[in-house]
Amino acid sequence: MKLLVINGPNINLLGVREKEIYGAQTYESLLDYIRQVCDQAGVEADFFQSNHEGAIVDAIQAAYGNYQGIVINPAAYTHTSVAILDALKAVSIPAVEVHLSDIYQREPFRHVSYAGMACVKSFYGLGFEGYRQAVLFLKEREEARP
Ligand code: DQA
Repeated sequence: MKLLVINGPNINLLGVREKEIYGAQTYESLLDYIRQVCDQAGVEADFFQSNHEGAIVDAIQAAYGNYQGIVINPAAYTHTSVAILDALKAVSIPAVEVHLSDIYQREPFRHVSYAGMACVKSFYGLGFEGYRQAVLFLKEREEARP
């Protein structure tokens, strides 16, 4: 099975940005962590990060026919982007939403997730572990398919 892992704006600045919220580990170490999880699970993964909404929409569209699952942390676009929601719906690839922080314990504007409305599952507030859970969830879902 092949997964696309998408990270949105400012996730490339992990380890620099608001460490008290997002931790001290870098984006590269996040990718290493997910690679290791995928290797152990026997899952192939490609990675995409962008600070641009349209580029994320393009990546989701390009996933059509090429991936069996999407793990997505749309970051700030979670709370604003109907375009990302529509793209996820359009390709109907099973998608899991991940947030490092618990968006429901933060400012009220973070309590709405548009992307989440097109996702089969959400993990939030677990740090890197959320990505591991997302990969394993998608793998088990794929294996359970008749
Ligand atoms: C985030 C939560 C968002 O509200 C925020 O804009 C981010 C990161 C998270 O992973 O906790 O950039 O998606």
